Amino acid sequence: MLRRETNIGDNSIFGSLSASEGKNWIGNNVLVHTQCHITTGIIIEDWVFIAPEFVGANDLQILHGRRNIEKFIPKGPHIKFGSRIAVNVTVLPGVVIGRESLIGASSLVTKDVPDFSIAYGVPAKVAKTIEDKWRLPEKMYEEFRKRVSEEYLAKFIDKLLSDYK
Ligand SMILES: CC(C)(COP(=O)(O)OP(=O)(O)OC[C@H]1O[C@@H](n2cnc3c(N)ncnc32)[C@H](O)[C@@H]1OP(=O)(O)O)[C@@H](O)C(=O)NCCC(=O)NCCS
Repeated sequence: MLRRETNIGDNSIFGSLSASEGKNWIGNNVLVHTQCHITTGIIIEDWVFIAPEFVGANDLQILHGRRNIEKFIPKGPHIKFGSRIAVNVTVLPGVVIGRESLIGASSLVTKDVPDFSIAYGVPAKVAKTIEDKWRLPEKMYEEFRKRVSEEYLAKFIDKLLSDYK
């Protein structure tokens, strides 16, 4: 299910029983498998793969019933170009998964993961670096960045979430 203001690019696949809450950004050639929770405010760049049972969170303090104490401004994860997320992974609010990183099965990602890292566990820790042979051609990345800059994405999400401010 894609709720209102889900922005999804070309050639991207959204699996059965996955839900996008809307007000988020998903690029081209993204594969979201079955039973994934694609939260408001999340950014998923081009060529990301998300295996079944992914959960992205956007509210660290869980402000349900407490929005008089603190304003709720969704802060979704940012999953960068070409990353691969294994089965049953949870990513906490605002966490950035670096370019072409790989997150291992059943991980809980609580902190940013640098580009080209393999990280896993609860909480996820970086264990290795992606071998060169698994990297996507630099040209693909350059073309993506030419089309979609970091600044553009930041502004786009900021505008989408302006109702919350
Ligand atoms: C993260 C991953 C790529 C690591 O593979 P790898 O580099 O070959 O690692 P190894 O199997 O050599 O394991 C190295 C160590 O890390 C541990 N480990 C591996 N993956 C782990 C994970 N997800 N969580 C916790 N520990 C993990 C192993 O038990 C091993 O521990 P040890 O050294 O104490 O024996 C792999 O485990 C994984 O999760 N692949 C994704 C599978 C998947 O969900 N695919 C989705 C499409 S179906």
